[in-house]
Amino acid sequence: MALEGGAWGWGRVCDAPPEEGACLMKVSIVGTGHIGSVLARLLVGAGHQVLLANARGPQSLAPLVAELGPAAEAREAEAAAREGDLVVLMVPFGQVKDLFAADAVAGKVLVDATNAYGAGGGRGAGAGPSSSELVAAWYPGARVVKALNTMNFKTLGASAMRSGDARLAHYVAGDDQAAKDQVATLIESLGFVVVDTGALHGGSVRQQPGSAVYNHPLTAEQAHAALRADAPH
Ligand SMILES: NC(=O)c1ccc[n+]([C@@H]2O[C@H](COP(=O)([O-])OP(=O)(O)OC[C@H]3O[C@@H](n4cnc5c(N)ncnc54)[C@H](OP(=O)(O)O)[C@@H]3O)[C@@H](O)[C@H]2O)c1
Repeated sequence: MALEGGAWGWGRVCDAPPEEGACLMKVSIVGTGHIGSVLARLLVGAGHQVLLANARGPQSLAPLVAELGPAAEAREAEAAAREGDLVVLMVPFGQVKDLFAADAVAGKVLVDATNAYGAGGGRGAGAGPSSSELVAAWYPGARVVKALNTMNFKTLGASAMRSGDARLAHYVAGDDQAAKDQVATLIESLGFVVVDTGALHGGSVRQQPGSAVYNHPLTAEQAHAALRADAPH
């Protein structure tokens, strides 16, 4: 794949066939605590570039940036959102609403990896908006994909870079197929397999706390079986 040179000369587009080479992205991670820091390590290990943002500001991220090397830089949340090819939300759900101006992510893939844990995020597929639908409403124009919320950070770090049937499943839900494909490509580059749980309304609920796949490390086969058994009637 002929990679388009971004600011760092890294790949920016991931629409070429996989056999043409790696699809490298500049991924912004907003929230670099337990899960965000593990994701950052995995992404850099796989060759991606990361922009990191937290609540305390870029200075506080100096140790993590030093650990990760030149593929990582720290930003304020809004700058990270504007500069990334793809933005991952890994903050507490209650912090999501006003992280940055909505236009920072308009037209961009915005991965909602948060869990609402009863913070008004909605639960039932037919009973009001899911937490990811709220995220989509707070950031109109963003191409929201629910993903990376189901797996504990320790499992995420310990089970990456597997191959074949040994790979564990992550999930995508959203209303924009190209956005879901891009997120799936990114997650697959970390040695996982990706299962599509559907649209943002019904599908994101299938990944929420209490669902059949939440916090249960599963292979793709096991994940499909769990989702079938948990299918809404
Ligand atoms: N822990 C897991 O295994 C896991 C797995 C999947 C999904 N999740 C979800 O991921 C999210 C984060 O979980 P966590 O366990 O990683 O939490 P955590 O360790 O408490 O980290 C939260 C991060 O969010 C940052 N943050 C908080 N408010 C912010 C704001 N207004 N602007 C920018 N950054 C802000 C914090 O910044 P500071 O570092 O400056 O405090 C911190 O880096 C939650 O929604 C959780 O449900 C967690």
